[in-house]
Amino acid sequence: MSEFTINKRYEIRIIEDPDLLDPVEILQNIVWPGDLTEVVPKHMLLAAIFNGGLVIGAYDLAIQESVKSDSEADQEYFSEGNNLIGFAFGFPGLFETPDGPRIKHASHMLGVHPNYRNQGIGFALKRAQWQMVRNRGIDLITWTYDPLQSRNAHLNINRLGATCKTYKRDAYGVLRDGINVGDHSDRFMVDWFIDSRRVSTRLSKDRRTDLDLAHFLSAETNIVNPTQIGNTNLPIPTQNINLEIILTDDQYHQSNPIVLVEIPSDFAKIKRKDPQLAIEWRLHTRHIFESFFSHGYLVTDFVFLPGDLPRSFYVLSYGESTL
Ligand SMILES: CC(C)(COP(=O)(O)OP(=O)(O)OC[C@H]1O[C@@H](n2cnc3c(N)ncnc32)[C@H](O)[C@@H]1OP(=O)(O)O)[C@@H](O)C(=O)NCCC(=O)NCCS
Repeated sequence: MSEFTINKRYEIRIIEDPDLLDPVEILQNIVWPGDLTEVVPKHMLLAAIFNGGLVIGAYDLAIQESVKSDSEADQEYFSEGNNLIGFAFGFPGLFETPDGPRIKHASHMLGVHPNYRNQGIGFALKRAQWQMVRNRGIDLITWTYDPLQSRNAHLNINRLGATCKTYKRDAYGVLRDGINVGDHSDRFMVDWFIDSRRVSTRLSKDRRTDLDLAHFLSAETNIVNPTQIGNTNLPIPTQNINLEIILTDDQYHQSNPIVLVEIPSDFAKIKRKDPQLAIEWRLHTRHIFESFFSHGYLVTDFVFLPGDLPRSFYVLSYGESTL
């Protein structure tokens, strides 16, 4: 079994033993609460593992000191001695190239227990996945995620260096778990070129400092959809942007090789407080991303400004030569 230590307290391990996959099933239902039919069962995880799939777990080695939770499901999970606090799951897949299909790793799930988020566990799991998949001689990992989840965007695009040029409308049809219920399952399909300099720089210990909005504004970068705060203190999408007119102008990409697209920093809160506004955000950003992707732009970076009024922006660049 391969082990990667994050620090003295947390450890990352490859999981292959069937008994150790039981907590992966339970943790899925804690991360995506709700319908049990949404859980990938142990036999499917094993079938993937037998065929080149990877299940990677993060373990808390000091679990007893840490668990304080009001949730019964959590209490039960931890009191049964489980110390799996996060996992990543993926399997081999194919992608098309001009020379025919080639093998990639299709990463399907990344989940961290709610008590353990924002401590670098998700990053460490992806880093271990990067290392394992590279060792197998595969140079591309892809996965999908909801483009309106700012934390995921920061992790995937900024910290890991993934890029995106593919927008999948209603990718998974109707989802029934607690995070996705009532929403369209639109997704970004991201490419993680794991042998690229871009990615190894992002993963290295002395990585660059995060970009700030000021960097872009000083270069007169256009914000396509600057957000306003509405009466209910929630961000509302810009009305009336006619992208067709902007993007069919041949000069547009020359004067705007880089643009910023704003998304809410806490989409889960909007879904909870104003589901109609959440749908407006979904359709608004769907229109923007589909339009820019079809005119040769791709997502190359992400800017998150924390604080009392946090703001989040995708950076879109024109042409693949920008990578
Ligand atoms: C997405 C998920 C796996 C991330 O795990 P995690 O352990 O919290 O990730 P990390 O701590 O490594 O990274 C989170 C980063 O987002 C930042 N962040 C937190 N809130 C944010 C926000 N609202 N907007 C942008 N960034 C945010 C954190 O500061 C951290 O960045 P840093 O390391 O540069 O400080 C976890 O939140 C999760 O399980 N979510 C539910 C399931 C899901 O959406 N899975 C992914 C799709 S399959």
